Amino acid sequence: MYTQAMDTMGKDGDAPALQTADQQALQARFDARIDAGDFIEAKDWMPDHYRKTLLRQISQHAHSEIVGMLPEGNWVTRAPSLKRKAILLAKIQDEGGHGLYLYAAAETLGSSRDQLLHALHTGKAKYSSIFNYPTLTWADIGTIGWLVDGAAIMNQVPICRCSYAPYARAMIRICREESFHQRQGYDSLLVMMQEGTPEQRAMVQDAVNRWWWPCLMMFGPPDAESTHTAQSMRWGIKRISNDDLRQKFVDATVEQAKVLGVTLPDPHLHWNEARGHYDFGHLDWDEFWRVVGGEGPCNRERLAARVNAWEEGAWVREAALAHAAKVAAQPLAA
Ligand SMILES: [Fe+2]
Ligand SMILES: [Fe+2]
Repeated sequence: MYTQAMDTMGKDGDAPALQTADQQALQARFDARIDAGDFIEAKDWMPDHYRKTLLRQISQHAHSEIVGMLPEGNWVTRAPSLKRKAILLAKIQDEGGHGLYLYAAAETLGSSRDQLLHALHTGKAKYSSIFNYPTLTWADIGTIGWLVDGAAIMNQVPICRCSYAPYARAMIRICREESFHQRQGYDSLLVMMQEGTPEQRAMVQDAVNRWWWPCLMMFGPPDAESTHTAQSMRWGIKRISNDDLRQKFVDATVEQAKVLGVTLPDPHLHWNEARGHYDFGHLDWDEFWRVVGGEGPCNRERLAARVNAWEEGAWVREAALAHAAKVAAQPLAA
């Protein structure tokens, strides 16, 4: 689902000084292509720093997709109707597919799937911190679709124009599916708000209260503190800054909340005529960094679930490899 804070964990530093005239020529050609808005393909020359930045971002994005399946999986057996259960299953399956496209895109940069997953399982790689919050009621599922997938779309549509072509291509398909995710969540909440009992409406409001601020944090730290933003924008990896995306999300969501009939939990939220945008309150960045750092309500549970899935799936990987070896050893049919 979800790019967030994709630039929070890098320690790459500046690009290394170039060694040779040949490398300088390659760099100049690369820069000219980026300036011209060209797409870079997997086999094209690229600076090491560009490759590492993309690898970090795409793999964090892939991890976010598969960890994002966990809070929703928690409600599959308790969905209130067959229809909602089928929708939820389809959505979770989509997220697994998003992980697959993104791991494949990351592999084109020279890391294997095993290496990428090892980094996740050992806590070296991050995923979106939004998934470290619990899903306490059925209304959380609709709220995740509306707000979390909604924030993801806001984040991800600009990545469809990312300068690295395999990532951009993966994002086009992902964004179409995220749009369905957002709408199903909103629809689920609308039914509860318009046809539900007072208890169901209160449940929706409570879910929105809990998810609103963490969703705003999905866009990452403020621009002034975002270490990699300038370089990523220069390379055409990032097209819109964290703060601008956050503002776009707030502006769009306030109107949707009015139709839904819920109150967004921010007393400072009001329309600013001069700016032409909604003003909103301060985010608790201490909480954000705590959750990114592993101290959110569900960090340990999520990671343990992924590690467990990897270990329990070992026999499937072994069987698939044994089968592939058997097929490879067979003489080709005439
Ligand atoms: Fe999604
Ligand atoms: Fe997704």
